[in-house]
Parts: sequence; structure tokens; C-alpha cells
Amino acid sequence: PEVITIQELANRMAERAVDVIKLLMKQGQMAKITDTIDADTAQLIAEELGHTVKRVSEADVEEGLFDVADASEDLEPRPPVVTIMGHVDHGKTSLLDAIRHANVVAGEAGGITQHIGAYQVTAPSGAKITFIDTPGHAAFTAMRARGAKVTDVVVLVVAADDGVMPQTVEAIQHAKAAKVPLIVAINKIDKPDAKPERVRTELLQHEVQVETFGGETLEVEVSAKQKTNLDKLLDVIGLQSEILELKANPNRPAEGTVIEAKLDRGRGPVATVLVQRGTLKVGDIVVAGAEWGRVRALVSDTGKTIDTAGPSVPVEVLGFNGTPEAGDRLAVVENESRAREVTDYRARQKREKQAARASGMRGSLEQMMS
Ligand code: GTP
Ligand code: MG
Repeated sequence: PEVITIQELANRMAERAVDVIKLLMKQGQMAKITDTIDADTAQLIAEELGHTVKRVSEADVEEGLFDVADASEDLEPRPPVVTIMGHVDHGKTSLLDAIRHANVVAGEAGGITQHIGAYQVTAPSGAKITFIDTPGHAAFTAMRARGAKVTDVVVLVVAADDGVMPQTVEAIQHAKAAKVPLIVAINKIDKPDAKPERVRTELLQHEVQVETFGGETLEVEVSAKQKTNLDKLLDVIGLQSEILELKANPNRPAEGTVIEAKLDRGRGPVATVLVQRGTLKVGDIVVAGAEWGRVRALVSDTGKTIDTAGPSVPVEVLGFNGTPEAGDRLAVVENESRAREVTDYRARQKREKQAARASGMRGSLEQMMS
């Protein structure tokens, strides 16, 4: 059910909260300024005070933002988006760095100028692959809970000297719950005490049967440290992705997900966004969570300023009026007033949820979950 605090209702009508409370008392309801009332009561009060009420529902405001499907003939192949997961210290970051570094050194223009949460590489086959620096399992779960499906393939890193550990198992469960295919990277095979066979056996206990054991899960033995088999890993990712036949329509207003966002001293709010459908352009008006802005600049993963970003491209977006949150979904809207409508509504929802939570209102559970 929709609720509103007395303070917020009074603010929106430009009335005094005490007058709202008086009216409620007349109806036999005792209330404090921080208490919440339901939408029907709020409407009665507002009308009593001579205001006309236009109730806007979530359905009205969010309408058309994300639910417009693409015709199959408009779909074109897009690169896979890969998330690296695994137990602490098993070498996720090292592996990502090694892949990126090898790739940049292998002759791409530009260098590694800055860290962004996602980047794209070109495999030896010529196919592009987008990697997301794992935002941690909690963030992965949060994104999934918010309906943001960003990843097409999970690369599970298991250190060959340490084997399957609690967070390895968690990662397997995440991938299964999200119905995302898994590729196993058995890392640290350079170590004298590496036991890749043991890793394969341990994985069996968690219903992951690798190819060399007659199963369907592709696996590669790698060493991030010695840069062993990195190309092979990219090939295997390419193979897995081909099976998925990933497609998106690049010729439509962009949709995507905020991977991370921060307030930069010099540049203002900066959001790293993974574009998932359509093409994001400089000048577009975007909304993400309760924030909106006009795209002032797009910066690629190599630090270059670009004009557009298509499906599966990770990009820094400058121009937001506020800092959105990781996991927020981004959409392009037609104009500023639409952007304001959407974000005002969402900001209000957010405030009201917080207020409901703060006042410990009974029955607010449903609110918090929505
Ligand atoms: P968290 O982010 O803390 O979960 O760790 P991580 O999985 O990102 O591991 P990270 O890349 O930080 O590596 C952990 C340690 O393992 C570091 O000391 C690395 O140098 C080492 N390491 C990573 N890959 C290899 C490898 O292939 N061989 C060897 N010998 N050491 C490795
Ligand atoms: Mg790490």
C-alpha cells in the first residue's frame, strides 16, 4: 500500500503539518508529524484543505521505461558480459589485471589510464568480451534482487593450491540461481603445491562437472602470475558465448545498469554504466534510480572520450545531477520534464520508505520490499 508521512503530505500541499494533524484528530486519529498515513486518508485530508489530488501510481510513472521489447529482426550480435567470482585471494583481481594488461600490451591503442569497474578486451579470435570487476557477492545479489541482470557468463576462479572454499560454493549457487553458465578457471597452477585434479573432484560435490570429467562445464588451467593460458580462457569464454547467441538492438534509446558510481571532485557525479540495449549518446537525457542528467561526456574504459556506446559497452557517464547507486538501471527518456517526473517520484518513494522505516510503522514491510 502507498503511504506518506504527515510532514511530506504537508510539504507537498504547502500546508502546516499541524493543520493536517488537527484534521486527523477530528476524524478520531491521533498522529505525530513523523507518522505515515495511507494514500486514501491523505487524499481525504488534501481535499478537505481545498487541494485537488492527482494520484500517480508507480505503473504510470515507470510505464514504457524498460518494458518495450525489440523486434527480432532488429537484434544484432553483442559481446558477452563476464563476471569473475571466487573465494578470497584465489586470484580474481590478478586474473583480470593479467587479461587486461596482456590485451593492452598486445597492441590496443591507449594504455591503462585508470581503474574502472568494467572493461572490454578483444580475444585472439577478434571477438570482444566485456569483463566486470566483481563487485563482490553481496553487490551481485543486490543487483539480482533489483532485477538487474548484467552478467551472461560467470568465470569461477579456484586456486589450485587451496581448492573449493566457502565463497567458491556461494559463487556456484549465485550462478545457478541466476541461470548463468559457469566457466571454471583453475588458477595458480604455477604453484608447486597446485592440485588441479583435486579441484575438479571437489567441484563434483557441488554438482559442477567439468568437461575433462565428462561434464558440460568448460574449464581452463591458468596462472595469472605467469600469464599462462589467458588466451585459452578468452577462447573458452568466446565458445561459451557463441552458444548463448547473445543479441541486442543497438538502434534504440539506451538501457543499462550502473556498475559503480562516485562523486568526483573535479568531474561531479560519475557513473560507470554497462549499456545493455540501444546506444547511449552524448546529449541524451538519462535517469538512473532517483537521479537524472543530460549526458555531458562518455569516457571509455581506456580513458578516451567517445560519442556513443552500444550494447555490452562499459562506459563512464558524466552529467548526472546526483550520484546514482550501483545496481540502478539506466534509461534514456525523451525530455527533461519526463526525467524530472520519474526521478521526483522515485526520490519521494525513497524518502517515504525511509520515513516508514524510521517510524517503525507496522505493515511497512511490504513497502520496504517493493
Ligand atoms: P580478493 O579480491 O581479496 O578476494 O582476492 P582476489 O581473488 O582478487 O586475489 P588476488 O588477485 O588479490 O590474488 C591474491 C594473491 O594470490 C596475491 O598475492 C597474488 O599475487 C596471488 N596470485 C594470484 N594469481 C596467482 C597465480 O596464478 N600464481 C601465484 N603463484 N600467485 C597468484
Ligand atoms: Mg580482488
